[in-house]
Amino acid sequence: MRDSGTQEVMGKLEWCGLGAQLEMAYVARKGGRIMLMDLVKTRYPKSFQLRDGTSVTIRPMVSSDEKGLLSFFRAIPPEDRLFLKDDVSKAEVISTWCRNLDYERILPIVSEAKGGLVADATLHRRQTGWMRHVARVRVVIAPAYRGKGLGTVLINELIAIAEETDLEKMEVELMVDQNTAISAFRSLNFSPVAVFPEHVKDISGKRHDLMVLVRDLTPREEIETSY
Ligand SMILES: CC(C)(COP(=O)(O)OP(=O)(O)OC[C@H]1O[C@@H](n2cnc3c(N)ncnc32)[C@H](O)[C@@H]1OP(=O)(O)O)[C@@H](O)C(=O)NCCC(=O)NCCS
Repeated sequence: MRDSGTQEVMGKLEWCGLGAQLEMAYVARKGGRIMLMDLVKTRYPKSFQLRDGTSVTIRPMVSSDEKGLLSFFRAIPPEDRLFLKDDVSKAEVISTWCRNLDYERILPIVSEAKGGLVADATLHRRQTGWMRHVARVRVVIAPAYRGKGLGTVLINELIAIAEETDLEKMEVELMVDQNTAISAFRSLNFSPVAVFPEHVKDISGKRHDLMVLVRDLTPREEIETSY
């Protein structure tokens, strides 16, 4: 049974029209940490105009995105999918993500345009342990929407959300061959801090060096006091 605070949150979500779907994402709200679910319910949906004038909307992923997300990932060229952590062309991978939504652990933000989903970006947060202050990000943009600033918009959104919490650092793990992605993260002040030789295998089984890039986040108190 939910407490009154939780009922109030769900009531607001119903008001936003996302309640029924976000219900699936509801998890325990204890432990003293700022809940990502609380942050996203007031922040989204949000519209942006990309560099070429295209309009996109961004919002948290919900379980009913399963079909759209699978189509989105299946349209990503095999040479790009090779470098992703999971084989996202598999229906069971996407279905597992959609069935196990837990925004406090992994917050997925999607971008929609006229034709459907065009991007997916995730913010990963550990609940406990010595890396609970370190967020990890992943982002994939549909080829037709690359180079228009959408990756920058999404990464900046995840940075802004993370900075509202107790997260202090953000990291991204890339294979050293992912030159465009490395440039994109470097342009947002992520710096390479380590390379692990032959540390990861792509989905074809070939080994690659893993590069970790990190940027510091501005603590929440500093954002508040700078106004
Ligand atoms: C990496 C990726 C997310 C970038 O998204 P994007 O929307 O194209 O990026 P943006 O248009 O916001 O560009 C951001 C920066 O990336 C760099 N960049 C983008 N496209 C580039 C290209 N073709 N070549 C070199 N650098 C490029 C630039 O530094 C650019 O900054 P600028 O616009 O000020 O010059 C996108 O290419 C992608 O989805 N790649 C496949 C998946 C992947 O590798 N994801 C990373 C795993 S976490």
